[in-house]
Amino acid sequence: MLNSRNIRKDFPIFNRLVNGDKRLVYLDSAASSQKPQTVLDIMNDVYEKHYANIHRGIHALAEESTELYEVARKKVSDFVHIPDPTQMIFTRNTTESINLVAYAWGRKFLKTGDHILLTRMEHHSNLVPWYMLAKEKDVKIDFTEIDEQGLLDLEDFQKQLNHKPKLVAFAHMSNVLGVINPVKKMTEMAHRIGAIVLIDGAQSVPHLPVDIQDIGADFYAFSAHKMCGPTGVGILYGNKKLLNEMDPFLGGGDMIRKVTYDGFQPNELPYKFEAGTPAIAEAIGFGAAIDYLSGIGMKEIHSHECQITAYAYDALKETAGLTILGPSAEKRGGVISFTLKDIHPHDVAQVLDSEGIAVRAGHHCAMPLHQKLDIPASTRASFYLYNDEADIDALVMGINKVKKVFG
Ligand SMILES: Cc1ncc(COP(=O)(O)O)c(C=O)c1O
Repeated sequence: MLNSRNIRKDFPIFNRLVNGDKRLVYLDSAASSQKPQTVLDIMNDVYEKHYANIHRGIHALAEESTELYEVARKKVSDFVHIPDPTQMIFTRNTTESINLVAYAWGRKFLKTGDHILLTRMEHHSNLVPWYMLAKEKDVKIDFTEIDEQGLLDLEDFQKQLNHKPKLVAFAHMSNVLGVINPVKKMTEMAHRIGAIVLIDGAQSVPHLPVDIQDIGADFYAFSAHKMCGPTGVGILYGNKKLLNEMDPFLGGGDMIRKVTYDGFQPNELPYKFEAGTPAIAEAIGFGAAIDYLSGIGMKEIHSHECQITAYAYDALKETAGLTILGPSAEKRGGVISFTLKDIHPHDVAQVLDSEGIAVRAGHHCAMPLHQKLDIPASTRASFYLYNDEADIDALVMGINKVKKVFG
């Protein structure tokens, strides 16, 4: 296991106490992770020493900040094994990356009566853009079912593929059930019927080694802020042929090669999809987050989280009145959502907060999944490299306190 106590020393936020004198037990990394000092330092450094707009100025600062920004792009591409950094588009977050595909690919290539295949476990970010598109283009949306364990039903996936969807989109890892989907196999199955595949990697890239080339998907989206990086930076990987065929998403500066009073010619990849001034210091900060995670090793981080998750799963399943959503520990990543008798998750989270324990309560942007599970909401504990068994022990003690408070 990783030495999480030492790792916490890299994250200044763990120097503070919460609610008076309580140690911070941060179990909400699936919503957003904390940031190491190196990421904070590099962003400060950019603003103090190198800051200017990128790709435009012919002066020293503009050249330095452009160089730092493009080095960050290369670091992120290499991290997930994107063959060519021009296939990696900086967006604001996973949500924007998926919207980009829905808008720029979907609007151009889908027509009335076409099918899109999603799954029952998707985050709103991988539902609502397709609902918006379906309404506009009169497209039909199908869903792959989940089984009683909460795993995707691959037989049903194959059955749904018989509708010949033009696009198949699914999460690599569920932010509620913790399930890690067999994305390579699903991509192969979808490609066999000629579908385009988009993978929502918001919960996978921060926690597992991910090789986008090996998986073979056409589009793959993730966010910096869930993996020790800053907010305001997301990634969209795209198949080069598709990116070239698509029209731009947003129009403005940087995404053009030429503009006249009659029209414009779009820029080359990836700038064609990067309109306007991006989050420059944040993208460079993301590069530092990649260095930080690579320095520890994604295999090691994943293995650490598996051990923490197994420890938490065993402890929570012994807790009377507590029901864990989703499959057994070995089939999930570092996310455990649960219900506790008929105590509302907001009450659970509030009592835990009074003990310094940060969890997420609600529908976690997966309302349809909660409806499917026939529960209004759940409480979610999620783990990262800075969590250890002491954090899980604190969670279990906190839950016992919740039970006491609510009789
Ligand atoms: C599975 C999944 N997809 C998409 C998102 C959206 O990410 P962002 O808010 O960074 O766009 C999240 C965030 O929680 C998520 O867990």
